[in-house]
Amino acid sequence: MRELITVRVFHQPVMVKEVINGLWVRPGGRYIDCTIGEGGHSLAILEASLPGGQLLGIDLDSRALASAKERLSPYKDSFLLRKAGFSQLEEVVLEHNYAPVHGILFDLGLSSLQLGSEGRGMSFQRDEPLDMRFDLEQELTAMEVVNGYSQEELASVISRYGEEPRARQIAEAIVNHRPVHTTGELAYIVQSAGSRSPRRINPATRTFQAIRMEVNRELENLSEGLHQAVNLLGYTARLVVISYHSLEDRLVKLFLRQESSDCICPPGLPRCVCGHKAVLKLISKKVITPSLGEVQANPRSRSARLRIAEHI
Ligand SMILES: C[S@@+](CC[C@H](N)C(=O)[O-])C[C@H]1O[C@@H](n2cnc3c(N)ncnc32)[C@H](O)[C@@H]1O
Repeated sequence: MRELITVRVFHQPVMVKEVINGLWVRPGGRYIDCTIGEGGHSLAILEASLPGGQLLGIDLDSRALASAKERLSPYKDSFLLRKAGFSQLEEVVLEHNYAPVHGILFDLGLSSLQLGSEGRGMSFQRDEPLDMRFDLEQELTAMEVVNGYSQEELASVISRYGEEPRARQIAEAIVNHRPVHTTGELAYIVQSAGSRSPRRINPATRTFQAIRMEVNRELENLSEGLHQAVNLLGYTARLVVISYHSLEDRLVKLFLRQESSDCICPPGLPRCVCGHKAVLKLISKKVITPSLGEVQANPRSRSARLRIAEHI
């Protein structure tokens, strides 16, 4: 009888070499992966920090943590995993007496596990109940946003987080079709409201992104996480952030610019009154993007933008 062999396919991490160089991973170093996902970057960090490297990994998604635990099992004495969000970073680190660290990584966005798993309601590729939560214990779901927000609130979310020019028309169409239960219904409503996208991109992409960002408070949490991360870095420790769309990247760029400036006064003042002091130094002035080879091998990497800063 033929034996059935199943191969476990994990999320393929993006720009691994650039992350390891950016974090300046060294033997015996201590690192935090704030978006452990299925542990792809963490595995590379643990390998590069041998002997004696340590890693603390957090994620809001308990399924991702279970997957990371399995993938990192060869290093089981060198890592610690916790279910936590960016806004709990300092609390978790304090609890485990884990600071200062040599490097912190944020690899934002969704993992293939979340995009591909049934029942997460993240994608219009499959018709399933609207959910979109990273944290399955959280109360707010996409179902509540889509069916419970006022037309004005919906239009504001879709415009702000989706940068969708037809946000008002889409919000009106959603309200007229309520109750909306599934991702398929939502995608159909957005398309029928006349949303357009460049060729080969589904017109519902921007609206789905916006609703997911609202459900998970993605920009607010990122901002909070970056501020907390800076307080945990030791001298010359590195911060590496990979973002996947312009709103995230803009927030990261402005944060790094501000924290690497000695003055953040509005332009035109005769002298500095803010008293702000730089705590970071930019390592890459320009954003780093994946190589053509990587984009061909892993098309999901095409929108990745990596930024690096060093604590001073
Ligand atoms: C792109 S995936 C990371 C993939 C990972 N680098 C790997 O190699 O497998 C992003 C992860 O960040 C997590 N995440 C998103 N927002 C978060 C937050 N506020 N706090 C903690 N984790 C978050 C998601 O649940 C997801 O698992």
